[in-house]
Amino acid sequence: MARKFFVGGNWKCNGTSDEVKKIISTLNAAEVPSQDVVEVVVSPPFVFIPFTKSSLRQDFHVAAQNCWVKKGGAYTGEVSAEMLVNLGIPWVILGHSERRLILGESNEFVGDKVAYALSQGLKVIACVGETLEQRESGSTMEVVAAQTKAIADRVSDWTNVVIAYEPVWAIGTGKVATPAQAQEVHDDLRKWLHAHTSPDVAASTRIIYGGSVNGANCKELAAKPDVDGFLVGGASLKPEFIDIIKAAE
Ligand code: G3H
Repeated sequence: MARKFFVGGNWKCNGTSDEVKKIISTLNAAEVPSQDVVEVVVSPPFVFIPFTKSSLRQDFHVAAQNCWVKKGGAYTGEVSAEMLVNLGIPWVILGHSERRLILGESNEFVGDKVAYALSQGLKVIACVGETLEQRESGSTMEVVAAQTKAIADRVSDWTNVVIAYEPVWAIGTGKVATPAQAQEVHDDLRKWLHAHTSPDVAASTRIIYGGSVNGANCKELAAKPDVDGFLVGGASLKPEFIDIIKAAE
């Protein structure tokens, strides 16, 4: 089953309004493969979402970087899935390691968030990945499987889910996983989905890689059969994001 290449740009907690304007005008001017070949989603901080949505080219889409675990209400500082839907935002990133590790989001909490966001009609980029300590102790797949299981326990329809495998040791460190390391985990994850969800879900769910992806290393990673795209942090703020989108070709 063909899986369309997916490139997400996670701007994290970066940018001024001038910088955001500049990034968007670079993206808008870029020549990239068509939407039939690659799905491109950029994820600005919440405050820049309306501007990004209104000024970004129509063939690229917008994701939020997080949303609340249930219906909105008395949750100071949170943004609900309903609000994102109301603004016409199609995607949300959930379970990023920066939220799991810095803000203490558990596997179960992330699973609940994914299920709730999907129930409201959002599409979800669900992040999983091991720390360096976990990799060195040989528990990479155990960790990634537990993170994925917490989602699988709560979600039956995976149509609107993209899994982002992001080894924590590769995020923002310049220390990218080798194509072989990425392929190994993606392949194991697909086998896990085959065994614990369904053969169809395993074949059709996109598993993208994140962690120090840049214009120079993206082609080699993209050539791996189970690497269906990227979630890009630092390089998504720079013109080289265009080169990463072109890795879809
Ligand atoms: O969401 C993106 C990832 O955390 C990767 O970030 O490309 O800056 O390593 P990075």
